[in-house]
Amino acid sequence: MSLLIRNARILTLAAPAGATPARPRRGKALGELGVIAHGEVLVRDDRIAAVGEKVEAPADAEVIDANGRALLPGFVDCHTHACWAGDRLAEWEQKLRGVPYLEILKQGGGIHATVRAVREATQKQLASALRDRLARMLAEGTTTVEVKSGYGLTTEAELKMLRAIRRAAAEWPGTVVATALLGHAFEGDLEEYARMVVKEMLPEIAREFPEITVDAFCEQNAWTVEACVKLFEKARKHHPIRVHADQFTSLGMIPEAIRMFARSVDHLEAATKRDLVALAASETMGVILPATGFHTDQRYARAGFFVDQGGAVALATNCNPGTAPTHAMPFAIALAVRHCGLTPEEAIAACTVNAAAVLGLADRGRIESGLRADLILLHHKDERQLAYEVGGNPVDLVICGGRRT
Ligand code: NIG
Repeated sequence: MSLLIRNARILTLAAPAGATPARPRRGKALGELGVIAHGEVLVRDDRIAAVGEKVEAPADAEVIDANGRALLPGFVDCHTHACWAGDRLAEWEQKLRGVPYLEILKQGGGIHATVRAVREATQKQLASALRDRLARMLAEGTTTVEVKSGYGLTTEAELKMLRAIRRAAAEWPGTVVATALLGHAFEGDLEEYARMVVKEMLPEIAREFPEITVDAFCEQNAWTVEACVKLFEKARKHHPIRVHADQFTSLGMIPEAIRMFARSVDHLEAATKRDLVALAASETMGVILPATGFHTDQRYARAGFFVDQGGAVALATNCNPGTAPTHAMPFAIALAVRHCGLTPEEAIAACTVNAAAVLGLADRGRIESGLRADLILLHHKDERQLAYEVGGNPVDLVICGGRRT
């Protein structure tokens, strides 16, 4: 089955001359989208078969006339907590009255409220709630999404979450990458809890999900730097590691993450310039989540500064019930440009090619022959509209794994 998209403004995100295609883009290269002003893309089965100003297509190929609209790679949402049960509406009202997120967490709400709801839900219910969110993500152009566990806090409940994620993934046309967020919160004494995670939970999870990435939330009233380091020193022998750091407080996790070759440090709202400079000089990527500041406290990561220092930045929704109740990458793009100092072009690269690099996926995030055919056709001819417009869905058509959705 072949599909020919004609008359499109193609943002290929192809690597600048001399660069390795799947490597994350840094500095000036981040804003280079590899545009073909009037071009064609041929899709065969689930792959991109050809890209150029004119491509050869079989006579029976289905033709889509883009009418000059912008065609880009499907969004890769590389940081979400999209598997949850219950809601946090009461807590949101508390927040609107001025109670800070960390205070709610300390009082046993926040993440703990969702933990209670997740423990009560069955695996089937969790999978069904996630499926619903995945469908909404796809409609707004997300074709690959990372989904974390972390609302279980017992081995059994974390496994239930990961199995629910796997189950929902099997019924979605896009790609779901599960992450084991083993250090999201704790119950009882942190030292004892963290010891249990390292000794029991990690090996159990690794048995069923051997390649899974391991994540933690380094923050006041959550995991300390010391506890994170203990978990990661064990985990990194067999798993990639990522960490939520400097969301509210700069605790010193960034230098440790760099030292341990973490894939990414996510959040960075409270990161010092010194830590951002060090991160920019490392192989560890920075992931910004501006919907979080929008929903919680109007603080945003200084991504423009980070990029100026040569950092590799990615952008994601952080879809979760507590700090970022959104599934829409276009909204994250609009915020990154308004509040984090990225240009529209940089924001687009940050949630396609760079986000794919965070997830270790070399076969997407660009429009190149041989890659997975995950493509989105915007409603607009100028891709800057993606960042300019707020609150609607700028995506006219999604092609996922070579099929129209
Ligand atoms: O990235 N900060 C930690 N985790 C999520 C929030 C999760 C929640 O509040 O349920 C975040 O913002």
